[in-house]
Amino acid sequence: MEKPRILTGHRPTGPRHLGHLVGTLDTWRKLQDSHECLFLVADLHVLTTDYAHPQRIAPNIHAVLLDWLGAGLDPEKSAFVLQSAVPEHSELAVLLSMLVTVARAARNPTYKEQVRELGLSPSVGLLAYPVLQAADILVYKARAVPVGQDQLPHLEMAREIARAFNRLYGPTFPEPEPILSEVPRLPGTDGRTMHTSYGNTIPLGADPAEVTAKVLSMVTDPARARPTDPGHPEVCQAFVYHRTFRPDVAGPVEDRCRRGGIGCVPCKRELAEALVEWLAPFREIRTRWKGREQELGEILRQGTRQARPLAQATLAEVQAKLGLR
Ligand code: TRP
Ligand code: SF4
Repeated sequence: MEKPRILTGHRPTGPRHLGHLVGTLDTWRKLQDSHECLFLVADLHVLTTDYAHPQRIAPNIHAVLLDWLGAGLDPEKSAFVLQSAVPEHSELAVLLSMLVTVARAARNPTYKEQVRELGLSPSVGLLAYPVLQAADILVYKARAVPVGQDQLPHLEMAREIARAFNRLYGPTFPEPEPILSEVPRLPGTDGRTMHTSYGNTIPLGADPAEVTAKVLSMVTDPARARPTDPGHPEVCQAFVYHRTFRPDVAGPVEDRCRRGGIGCVPCKRELAEALVEWLAPFREIRTRWKGREQELGEILRQGTRQARPLAQATLAEVQAKLGLR
């Protein structure tokens, strides 16, 4: 029995953080036994916004690979694929872009948000971001895509493109299904959406001092002036983390808080210690791979070599259907 194929990926924008772990990496790790997994390093997608800093891409790819390994993604089981090294992604994207109206692409909520945030006139590349993402998925005929909630609009576009193509040229692509993580999205340490540019993340490779500082900066129940004041864990950022990373003690932590049995500083110190321990494998992976960039690159080349023939086969089929060869 062949395992169903999934494709998912990250843009190499820098080290991964706890939000990536809870939202995606943990789900990906678990899927590796039941599915044929392709994990994409989407370097072309980085250029849609950060085209002015190409020198950042190589070190960021390195950082992403380290954190993937630390999270238990296993190159023996799964293929790590470099997007730009499989030109069929770009070629398919051009062909699929004919099926997407400009109006449809401009309705994508992520696109709208980025245009608002960047404050620049958006490039054609940014507008076509989800078309390239659709090509990433469809070029491998992936059945499912494990992603965070934020990626659903992109996935919906990939599904629409698959349907449109199949309708016009005959059955070709499965409609890729989302696989969502059961764990709700982790907020940043300040309660806003977790985002590297907000400085409210805890990187997976953070050292104990950084973890402790970030945890101590978390916003707690503002109504507590003294350690004996009864607390409200439901408004406390630290409690979200207690619940997520220490589910076995969340009950007692909650009781203790409500009765005013502990101050917020010791409560957060306890959380920091637990997180430091939790992140030990990520620090360890960094030590283990120090100075072995070559081998890390080899893992990516190996996965890319495995994936490419699949992409080539799909592209050939698509070209034939479009009358191109
Ligand atoms: N857009 C995704 C992100 O920002 C990265 C990505 C690129 C992706 N291609 C993909 C995710 C294909 C899933 C499938 O994280
Ligand atoms: Fe949050 Fe702990 Fe303070 Fe309660 S005691 S508000 S859970 S930090």
